[in-house]
Amino acid sequence: MREIAYKIGQREIKIVIGVKSSALVDQLKGRKILIRSKRVEMPFDFDAEYVVDDGEGAKNLENVLEIIRIMKSAGLGRSDFVVAVGGGTVMDVAGFAASIYMRGVGLVNVPTTILGMVDAGMGGKNAINFEGVKNLLGTFYQPGLIIDELNFLSTLPQDEYITGLAEVIKYGITLDKDLYDYMSSNFESLKSRDLAKVEEIVYRSTENKMKIVGEDELDNKGIRIVLNYGHTVGHALEAGSNFSIPHGKAVSVGMVCESKVAEELGAVEEGVVEDVLWLLQLYGLPISVDQLKVKVDRHIALNALVGDKKRVGGEILMPVPVRIGEWTKFKVPLETLQGLVVQCLE
Ligand code: GLY
Repeated sequence: MREIAYKIGQREIKIVIGVKSSALVDQLKGRKILIRSKRVEMPFDFDAEYVVDDGEGAKNLENVLEIIRIMKSAGLGRSDFVVAVGGGTVMDVAGFAASIYMRGVGLVNVPTTILGMVDAGMGGKNAINFEGVKNLLGTFYQPGLIIDELNFLSTLPQDEYITGLAEVIKYGITLDKDLYDYMSSNFESLKSRDLAKVEEIVYRSTENKMKIVGEDELDNKGIRIVLNYGHTVGHALEAGSNFSIPHGKAVSVGMVCESKVAEELGAVEEGVVEDVLWLLQLYGLPISVDQLKVKVDRHIALNALVGDKKRVGGEILMPVPVRIGEWTKFKVPLETLQGLVVQCLE
């Protein structure tokens, strides 16, 4: 079990990674309400409970308002806790509600997916969709405690587990060559979920992400964008498939496509694309739209690039790996990007 402490702005954040770490929830002093995904249980007492469906559709204002009503009737005060147990959707909805109720109450994230443990559960971003716009309403609000209970991973379907590893590979490619090498040399045991090895990659991903968040908590210094490597094209693919592609798979193809674009424009060293392809293929992650086995509407995908949050005027600021473990950002005119992304969509 690992316990790491971070300070982001004025907030102290404790992250605990390991088997049986979720017992810490029972030790929280104060009232606590549980917001959980349908497919997980928490064997502890709570003052109230609310179940949220998985998936983008549940990131809505109705769920947030319902949680706020529950907080109010449970008499939750500022020193009490909202405990979010589940994947990204649950943590988004619960985190948003916790951040606005009484200007903020205690928030504990217990991610139950690999994606949640290495990305969505930490960093303080939370948002819901509104009137058809993804993540239109949201806040930056850091959880005080994050518990990565590795036992939850044993129940994940294998495909979902592997898909989540795409975000770990993202850290390896852009920030941490040792992690890239670790993922490559421990492939067999990571694939079969050897929890000691999984703990190591969750820990390293946590260190990488929290370092970046510490340098650019509000995503306005051009540093946190590195966490978005693969996501410009990834989001376009998600939109073009009407959000039927799992996020990690879309990001996997996105990382390949964005690296190819960067190589084509001479922004990265030769050989980067091969390195990116190699590790993703080792884990059986998709490297082309074809391998996603879903219909991606080209028009919708290309249009989604226009809405990318890293667009400034007619250009998109893209984070890309110069070589494994090092990244840079470069500006691509939107039309150039669209022209090159078309090749990835073929
Ligand atoms: N998932 C990207 C970020 O936290 O900034």
